[in-house]
Amino acid sequence: MAPYIGTATSRVDGVAKVTGAAKYAAEFNTPGLVYGSIVTSTIAKGWIKRVDGSAAMRVKGVIDVLSHEHRPPMADDDKAYADEVAPLGSPFRPLYDNRVMFSRQPIALVVAETSEIARFGESLVRVEYEVEAPVTDLNRERDAAVPVKPPTNPFEALFTPPKPRGAPERALAAAAMRHEAEYCTPIEHHNPMELYAATVIYHADGKLTLYDKTQGVQNIQRYVCSVFGMKPEDVRVMSPFVGGAFGNGLRPNFEIVLAVLAARALRRSVRVVLTRPQMYALGYRPAMIQRIGLGATTDGTLDAITHDAITVTSEYEDYYRQETGWSGLLYTCANAKYAHKLAKLDLPTACDMRCPSAATGVYALECAMDELAVALKADPLELRLRCYSERDQNNNRPFGSKALRECYRQGAQAFGWDKRNPEPRSMRDGADLVGWGMATGVWDAFQAPITVRIALSANGHAEVACATSDIGTGTRTIMAQVAADMLGLPLDHISINLGDSNLPQSPVEGGSWIAVSVSNGIATTAASIRDELLRLAKQIPNSPLAATAPGEVALIDGKLADKGDVSRAISISDAMRQGGVERIEQEKTTNPSADAARAHNTHSAVFAEVKVDEQLGVIRVTRVVSAVAAGRILNTKTAGSQVLGSVVWGIGMALHEETLIDHRFGRVMNANIAEYHMPVNADVHDIKVIFVDEPDDSNPLGIKGVGEIGIVGVAAAIANAVYHATGKRVRDLPITLDKLSP
Ligand code: MOS
Repeated sequence: MAPYIGTATSRVDGVAKVTGAAKYAAEFNTPGLVYGSIVTSTIAKGWIKRVDGSAAMRVKGVIDVLSHEHRPPMADDDKAYADEVAPLGSPFRPLYDNRVMFSRQPIALVVAETSEIARFGESLVRVEYEVEAPVTDLNRERDAAVPVKPPTNPFEALFTPPKPRGAPERALAAAAMRHEAEYCTPIEHHNPMELYAATVIYHADGKLTLYDKTQGVQNIQRYVCSVFGMKPEDVRVMSPFVGGAFGNGLRPNFEIVLAVLAARALRRSVRVVLTRPQMYALGYRPAMIQRIGLGATTDGTLDAITHDAITVTSEYEDYYRQETGWSGLLYTCANAKYAHKLAKLDLPTACDMRCPSAATGVYALECAMDELAVALKADPLELRLRCYSERDQNNNRPFGSKALRECYRQGAQAFGWDKRNPEPRSMRDGADLVGWGMATGVWDAFQAPITVRIALSANGHAEVACATSDIGTGTRTIMAQVAADMLGLPLDHISINLGDSNLPQSPVEGGSWIAVSVSNGIATTAASIRDELLRLAKQIPNSPLAATAPGEVALIDGKLADKGDVSRAISISDAMRQGGVERIEQEKTTNPSADAARAHNTHSAVFAEVKVDEQLGVIRVTRVVSAVAAGRILNTKTAGSQVLGSVVWGIGMALHEETLIDHRFGRVMNANIAEYHMPVNADVHDIKVIFVDEPDDSNPLGIKGVGEIGIVGVAAAIANAVYHATGKRVRDLPITLDKLSP
C-alpha cells in the first residue's frame, strides 16, 4: 500500500457532493418545519420606532412576526462567549434592541408554514424609523480614524502591529532612494456559493439540534449557550458540509440567532436562509488606505520601511488584523515602523476574509517594492533577492523553515521571467500590450490544540472523529489520508466524522491551521492505537513482537510490524481477536510544540502576465505562476486547488471586486453577484501552481497549511504587470478600465 500523504488523492466526499447526497445546513428536514424570512432595515443609522407586523399576520400560514419588541429573552451580553479565543468580540445580535447600526440590519423575522409565505409576509411588514445620517465613507473619515488599542491578551497581540525598530523616519529622510505612496483597497465580500443558513430542530424536551453553515460547530455551540442561557448538553451543532465560507463563518452570523430565537418562541423547528443581498450585511474585508515609505541605498539595500494603514470597522465593535507588520517581516531592513488606525463607520463589523491582513497589507508592500525597483532600475525579482530576510526581524528570531528563494527560482523559471524586457510598454502581442509582474506572498503557519478520537475495528476499518469543519477545502480527505497512513489501512477503510459539536474538541477551521492541527492530532491518537495493539500482540503465545518496544513498531498493510524486521508482524485482526477485543478506541489531545523561538510562515512567489487592449483598456490575466513553500503538502490535488482558487481570488481583487456603497444612505448598491463583479471562467486563463520542497520540523508531520497563502501577492503581481504593460501605475484596486484611460 503506497502512502497516501503527499499524493493527488481525489476527495473522499466527491461522489456525495456531486450526487447531492452531501447535505448542507438548509437541506435537513424534519416534520413540522417552519420557515423564517428576515426583514432588514432600509436605513443605515437610527432607531426603530415601530415594527408593524399586522398585515403579515393576516396572511394565512404566517405564524408570527418576531422583533426586538416581541421575542424570547436573550442575555444582555455574550461575555461567556467573548472569552473564547476564536473569534474574539461580541458579534452583532439581531432583534436585540431598537437601534439600527447598519443598512440591511435584520430587524424582524416573519415565520410561516412555507418559505414562500414567509417571504410574502416579510414584504408586508411596515417599520417606522427615526433616521440619523450615516457615515460610511472611509475617505472622508480617514482623519477621524483612531489608533488600534494595545492588546489585552496573546491572541490580540498576534494582530497588533509589531514594535518599531531603529530610527525609521530619519533613515527614510536620509535614504539615497525613496519611494512613498498611498495604496487603496475597497471593501470586498466573501460571496461563498452556499447562502448562510440554519435549520434548528426543536425537540420535545426543549433541546436543540442546530444545522448551521459555520467554520466552527463548537464555537456556535458556545455562542448560542451564552446568548440564550442554555447548557451545552442541550445544544448540539452540526455542519457536515459547508459550501465555502472564506472567513465569514468564523463568527456566529445572524441566521443562527434568528432561527434559535424563533424555535424557542414557537417551540417548533425552524429554518432561516439568508438571501444573497442579506449576505452583504455580514462581515467583509475592510477597505484600507495604506501609506508605504521605502528608503534604500542606490544598490537596492532597504534601509527604511514605514507602513501606515487605516481600516474600517463598525461603530459597535473593533476589528483589526496585523495589516502592516508583514513589511518588516518579509525584507531585511534595520529601520521599520508600523501604524494602524481604525475608522469606525455605520457598517457591520469587518471580519476575516481569506488571508486577512496579508492579502491587503502585502499588496501595498509588493507594489511599493515594484515601484522602488523601477526607481532603482533594478529587476523586481533581483531587488527582492537583495533584500531577502533570513530572520524574522520583527521578533528577532530565525524562521523554522523558509524556502522562498526556491519559490523565486522555480517560479521565475516556469514563467520565463528572464525573457522580460524591463521597459514598460515594450512587449506586445498584436493589439495587446503585454506586461509581466511579480510579487512575494507570506502568511502564518499556526498550529492549534485539537483532540482526535479513533475507533479501530478488528475487521480493519477505522473511524476518525473530530469536531473540525470542512469548509470545502478538503479537510475530510486529508484526514482520511493521514489516518490511512498512520494506521496502515487502505483509504476506503477509513471513515471520517466531523462537523459535530459532540465530537472531540477542535478550533474553528481558519487561519490555515486545521490541516496541521488535525493531521498531527490523528498521528498522536494513531500512535496510541498502535501502542494498544502492541500490548495485545505481546499477549499472543510465541508472539513475534514479544521483544519489540513501542517505538519500534509501525502499522503497515493491515499489520503491526517490527520496523527493523517487517517479517516480524501480526495482523491487526489477529492481534485484536486473539486479544479478545473487537474494537479499540483512543482519544488524545495534541498541543502544538511551543516553538516561539522560531518564526513559522508560509511563502510564495507569484508571477503574472497581463494582456491589455491598448484602445479599450481591457485587462486579461493570461498567465499566473504561483510557487508556494508551505512545508509538507498532504494532497497535491486539493492543495493545488486551494492555491488555484486563491489565485482566482487574487485576479478578482486586482481587477473586479469592490463593494460599492451609496454613502448618502450607507447602503451597499451592488449587493448581488451580478453587480459585485468577480472573475468568471472567461477571466481565468493559464494558472500553474508549484509546491517547492520545504522540510520543516516545527511539528512531527512538517505541515504548514495552504488555505490562505495562495491569494497573497497575486493582486500585486497583476498590478505590477499592468504597470509594465501600460506604463500607468494604478494604486487603488480594482484596476478597472476607466482607471487606465489617459
Ligand atoms: Mo480564514 S479568513 O481564517 O477562514
